[in-house]
Amino acid sequence: MADTSFPEKGRPSEELLEEMRAERTGDLDWRGGKAFSLVYNTDDPELESLQHEVAGMFLHENALNPFRYATLLRMESEVLGMTRSLFGASAGSLSSGGTESIFLAVQTARDHARARGVMAPELVCAITAHPAFAKACKYLDVTQVFTEVGDDGRAVPEAFASAINANTAIVVVSAPSYPFGVIDPVADIAAMAAERDVLCHVDACLGGWLLPFWEELGESVEPWDFRVEGVTSLSADIHKYGYCFKGVSTISYRDEDLYRRQIFMYDSWPGGLYASASAAGTRPGPPIAAAWATITHLGREGYLRLGRRVLEATRAFRSAVDGAEGLVVVPTPDMSVFQIGVDPEASGDIDIEAVGDRMDERGWNMDRQQGGLHVMLSPGHDKVGEMFAADLAASVAQQGTAAGTEHTYGGVVG
Ligand SMILES: Cc1ncc(COP(=O)(O)O)c(C=O)c1O
Repeated sequence: MADTSFPEKGRPSEELLEEMRAERTGDLDWRGGKAFSLVYNTDDPELESLQHEVAGMFLHENALNPFRYATLLRMESEVLGMTRSLFGASAGSLSSGGTESIFLAVQTARDHARARGVMAPELVCAITAHPAFAKACKYLDVTQVFTEVGDDGRAVPEAFASAINANTAIVVVSAPSYPFGVIDPVADIAAMAAERDVLCHVDACLGGWLLPFWEELGESVEPWDFRVEGVTSLSADIHKYGYCFKGVSTISYRDEDLYRRQIFMYDSWPGGLYASASAAGTRPGPPIAAAWATITHLGREGYLRLGRRVLEATRAFRSAVDGAEGLVVVPTPDMSVFQIGVDPEASGDIDIEAVGDRMDERGWNMDRQQGGLHVMLSPGHDKVGEMFAADLAASVAQQGTAAGTEHTYGGVVG
């Protein structure tokens, strides 16, 4: 155990940097293409060095009071404008990540429900909705109602119809869900919500900055954004397929009125008027500045180029799974995120956990979930498809026993 007593004396910066550099060599090597989900690797040195430069430039800026930092204010307003035009929204804000965007959507819905006399608001979602909704419900005192998914991994409209009642404040659909990469039937569920005067949130934290470009590339993508009647709010993370580094997401609304419920204003404090659009007070400048620089540097052309690379990587990885004896991609995904499971029709016993272990021994960092292994692809995965196919086939052939790695997604509680 490291010495965690408060340091008596400071240590020279060079010594610390050396220590950290050495230690980091044992951390996840995402540049090699053998890691998934934690980093969205564009494998684009120009973009990466732009982000480093921008982060340094805005390191000490504080967006708590954007009027003190006119450049940050302009960049944030422009990112919000670009976001509105991408999704067809009319209002919204930036946040620190998907979880904060989801919290804001749930808070807005709770207060919208209270305003019409619903004092014990409920949120209806499928079991595949991200745990950030469970967290938001816990913190915000909203009851979460779960529905099962179909064999295709999607939310089931009929199950939502049965779950919605007079206390329902909001229904949630994913575009796509993290575990299976499938887009829920947004149009059916949003229409049902609208009919019952209930809000409908689309969690596009994962897909929001990729799906518009896949659609433009000719992929068949069911509409999931504000083009769909009844969708009232939408979360989409720039720090995922928007390719910015961590700390920036968007929450958007169809109506300004709904967005206003998110704004916090407090004028009874001796320190002066406090106003903010999201949960944070002090906000770091780098994610805002880098979001602006990333989107502006890439433009539609850049997002299409990177989107095509993700598409090619997805095709290569899916065909690697199809080619591996006894494994399947299940259920069929709509995006570059999917689960690898055991084909129920395969002859012989396959232990998917053991296959994951053998992959890890070959340098991969396979994510585990209840139904198998989980893969999320970035543009940088386009060069490792063949290696993945060869290693997967070899791991299935070799198999052996599983070490019993936990199905963990994130978070360690200390
Ligand atoms: C579908 C979905 N929603 C929400 C989130 C939460 O985002 P964050 O980890 O940025 O808080 C994630 C994260 O992977 C996600 O996949």
